[in-house]
Amino acid sequence: MRLQRKDLLGLKDLSAEEIELILETAAPMKEILGRDIKKVPTLRGKLVVTMFYEPSTRTRTSFELAAKYMGADTMSIAKATSSVQKGESLRDTARTLAAMGTDAVIIRHSAAGSPALLARTIEASVLNGGDGMHEHPTQALLDMFTIKEKLGGFKGLKVAILGDILHSRVARSNIWGLTKMGAEVRVVGPATLIPPEIENLGVKVYYNAEEALKGVDVINVLRIQRERQKKGLFPSLREYARLYELTPERLKLARPGALVLHPGPMNRGIEIAPAVADGLQAAITEQVTNGVAVRMALLYLLIGGAN
Ligand code: CP
Repeated sequence: MRLQRKDLLGLKDLSAEEIELILETAAPMKEILGRDIKKVPTLRGKLVVTMFYEPSTRTRTSFELAAKYMGADTMSIAKATSSVQKGESLRDTARTLAAMGTDAVIIRHSAAGSPALLARTIEASVLNGGDGMHEHPTQALLDMFTIKEKLGGFKGLKVAILGDILHSRVARSNIWGLTKMGAEVRVVGPATLIPPEIENLGVKVYYNAEEALKGVDVINVLRIQRERQKKGLFPSLREYARLYELTPERLKLARPGALVLHPGPMNRGIEIAPAVADGLQAAITEQVTNGVAVRMALLYLLIGGAN
């Protein structure tokens, strides 16, 4: 089985059938992660390169683990130690990697559209590891895998995405994916952190956390991105926490047993209370494990499976 595309650039481009195929393929990959010897030869002889021009813990390491568990060779390019420091362009770096026989490149970059540029430049598969404020498709797919695993599916599910929607590539990819699969998506945050006309993506907009969380099945809490925060979008972190932090009291407004997700890294005490982050309803560490399984599935479907 193989995806009928070279690259994974975003969930906007994927069909519901493609999303379903990725999630279905991730389930047996997760089973491999539970074995004592987590190694299969599926990608033996393939070369997978990570190019991270922005910091990352989860996405980069889980892609590298995913590739290694399937027998591929891996290389890692970091901005600080590459020839980017000498002025080499993204395109030329990519062409250099392609000349070394790279089969897949995973890129994270602050500029939206960088993965698409790379995909047009090289023959290797390009996977978007997060581009500016545009998309973070593998994060949304692992969020969706976690939801499906815990709640069985998406049709009719109410999902609230809480926090800084404006700067969030995770929110955008989740919105594309969840609405395609039939979930009702609510976005909630201060008016200054909600992009204008986001209703056009098929979501309901809320500015009041208590209203938005009423009866939802899933709450996906977003990180307050202090590094992208333009001054004045909200008065203070303390004020933000007072109105939007997911506290045990706010969580009680959701459906009993509602699932709590967070892409990480977390700002405890700002967007999520420690008691919720460490509570029984949170699947935050499982999301990390599922991230490896989903990335194994994607590498398999893009460069491993038979056409
Ligand atoms: N969720 C996520 O993208 O985490 P990293 O920045 O650690 O990769």
